[in-house]
Amino acid sequence: MGVTANSTNLLAKLGITVPIIQAPMAGWATPALAAAVSGSGALGSLGLGGMTAENARAVIRDTRSLTDRPFNVNVFCHARPISDPVREARWLAYLKPHFARFQAQPPMTLGEGYASFVDDDAMLTMLLEERPAAVSFHFGLPTSAKIATLRNAGIVLFATATNTDEAGRIAAAGIDAIVAQGAEAGGHRGMFDPVSSDERLGTVPLVRLLLRETSVPVIAAGGIMDGAGIAAVLALGAQAAQLGTAFLTTVESAADPADRAALLSPRSRTAFTKAISGRPARAIENHFTKLGQDPDCPTVPDFPLAFAAGKALNAAAKAHGSSDYAVQWAGQAVRLSRAMPAAELVATLVRETVDAITSLSANFASLSHSEASKSIT
Ligand SMILES: Cc1cc2nc3c(=O)[nH]c(=O)nc-3n(C[C@H](O)[C@H](O)[C@H](O)COP(=O)(O)O)c2cc1C
Repeated sequence: MGVTANSTNLLAKLGITVPIIQAPMAGWATPALAAAVSGSGALGSLGLGGMTAENARAVIRDTRSLTDRPFNVNVFCHARPISDPVREARWLAYLKPHFARFQAQPPMTLGEGYASFVDDDAMLTMLLEERPAAVSFHFGLPTSAKIATLRNAGIVLFATATNTDEAGRIAAAGIDAIVAQGAEAGGHRGMFDPVSSDERLGTVPLVRLLLRETSVPVIAAGGIMDGAGIAAVLALGAQAAQLGTAFLTTVESAADPADRAALLSPRSRTAFTKAISGRPARAIENHFTKLGQDPDCPTVPDFPLAFAAGKALNAAAKAHGSSDYAVQWAGQAVRLSRAMPAAELVATLVRETVDAITSLSANFASLSHSEASKSIT
């Protein structure tokens, strides 16, 4: 699909024909999902955050067994958490009554769980051996040596920016494309420093600001659920749109029945919370997001320490058939979710994008210059 002239560079580099990227979603993006998306001409992605190098190798191989098209794999580049036993004990005490609802106890201590790619040399070795077409970074960047090694292996690199400072660092590091993640986006904010002040730029201003300040191709992410949204970000100058929430209700995602019900509910609303994982993230409102808004809520331990408690609380609730504490990351436009197979969603998105662009051009072509100028004066 040749939607815009400026879509050629990045798409050609990636060897894809559709300017749509299915967001890497650690825990939700399965090999079947990534393969179905890549098989449709867009770019499927796997989220390797939280995996060991060997688990990651297995999901890459599973994806390869389902498609010979290019796909992207994503790694977390967060700074090491600073453990504060007093803060952690206070947090676990605060969560205790919530665990008690399910006759459970919070964990005694909080372990790290998630290795950062910054410290994970086994993951780098595995990536060099498996050579996925693209690798993307979230929560920061690895060392310049790691970036150079991946680039020299012919891998296309992306990194998430939530503001112009982060984008500047990504451009200086020689990354191929910037994922401009607006505040509408579902899941974790990709902020390099989770305690820095966050302007929470939306997708529209962020994409326009990045295009003014850098010549690196921009991929727009956040709140895009249909072809009208894709056409809008292509009109802004983005070379591709990255959609996460829209793919959660596909047949191939790992979302469970409770997640799917929440994603498809006309009543679902989203909010930012740090209470689930220790980093700001947008999720469907539930007991967990409300708990983080409680004025008595103590300081949440660093990511990913808090995530260990968050997952344990969700598991305890789930064992009692409750999804009150489910980890349900989703973007602001969640109520536009549609349930269908991933390949059908990509085909629908392509058709809607072309329709949106065609009807816009037709509407504008029907305005004569004199009428246009009259309506302006
Ligand atoms: C369930 C879920 C999990 C996510 N996990 C990751 C991840 O592992 N790595 C990453 O770079 N981004 C992740 N994101 C953020 C997406 O890359 C993207 O910024 C976001 O989905 C775009 O907004 P949208 O959900 O409104 O489409 C996740 C988003 C969701 C909804």
